[in-house]
Amino acid sequence: MDDDETVEVAPDYHDTFYHHDRLYHVVSVNSNTNLEPVDEAEIARLENCHQIFYMMVGGHLALPNVDRAGRVRASSLRRVLDCGTGPANWAIDVANAYPWCEALGTDISANMLPPDWNWPDRFRFELCNLNETLQFGHDVFDLVNSRGVAGGINASRWPQYVRDIYRAVRPGGWCQMVETHFTAQSFNGTLPNDGGLSRWSTAYMDSMSRSGKEPRAGSQLAQWLTQAGFENVQSQAVRWPMCGWSDGSGREDDAIRYDIGLSSEENISSMLSALAFYPLTVLEGMDLAEFQLLAEQARQEASNPAFQPYFWMYVAIGQKPRPSRRRH
Ligand SMILES: C[S@@+](CC[C@H](N)C(=O)[O-])C[C@H]1O[C@@H](n2cnc3c(N)ncnc32)[C@H](O)[C@@H]1O
Repeated sequence: MDDDETVEVAPDYHDTFYHHDRLYHVVSVNSNTNLEPVDEAEIARLENCHQIFYMMVGGHLALPNVDRAGRVRASSLRRVLDCGTGPANWAIDVANAYPWCEALGTDISANMLPPDWNWPDRFRFELCNLNETLQFGHDVFDLVNSRGVAGGINASRWPQYVRDIYRAVRPGGWCQMVETHFTAQSFNGTLPNDGGLSRWSTAYMDSMSRSGKEPRAGSQLAQWLTQAGFENVQSQAVRWPMCGWSDGSGREDDAIRYDIGLSSEENISSMLSALAFYPLTVLEGMDLAEFQLLAEQARQEASNPAFQPYFWMYVAIGQKPRPSRRRH
């Protein structure tokens, strides 16, 4: 080789960098895929989020297993896929809960995974960019889980992403999808429109749109599932309370929501920074002090039960028809 010959070095998939005190994954950020941190604080937040979500859906990992005769039973889960697995809390819990089931986690970044000596035997991981055609073959998985990936799926990619999942699901198998809509809501309508939380929502969601993502993905999941060919599609919007507040009804669901809110307060507080820090301070050019003030004002409202603040979380499921009833 000549001395002046240069050799292209592929970017190391594990490379990270700091933006102020948060750690980011180089490939995710450079490809405008995922602008959320991949550090210990984010791993802890996602673990906590996983527990909160579990509470919100009545303690079920496989949502289509919840009700109605004929729906997939946990015992029929042999192979599951988790798209955008992050720290793999869902996939690892499935592998541990169902000893007959193999769980494959995929993500553009492996940085949040636990060390591999700590993986259950039936958990595997593959690097994969969900914005590219999924290469998992046809009719492979009994259940595909896709949760909290709207920050990283290109807006125009969504319909084809769901069709790719459809192809990978076996006939009779299911897809379950969960996305949060980050427009701050107030159960009693008292949240000020010009307050920190509303301004945070607008700034973050506008920035998502400008970087080519779909901040309103949650409300479209059912439509995309149906268009892809899934049937028995159901979608539900569930209130995700930001702190412990009660509607005063004394009903059981109010008490459950209060507990979820209490468990969520710290999570929401750290989420308000984690999600928006890079997009607002880098892409939108907000200076650090302004961002910190906005996040702090948003946090104060999010933790104030008087506003009864919440986000909508959309949960959607769909089943791939069995051969005789298949549309395509
Ligand atoms: C908010 S975390 C959610 C993690 C996990 N699904 C959960 O619910 O705990 C989003 C994850 O999706 C991954 N992700 C986002 N967009 C992606 C894409 N286009 N390709 C692969 N992974 C992606 C991110 O790297 C990150 O790990």
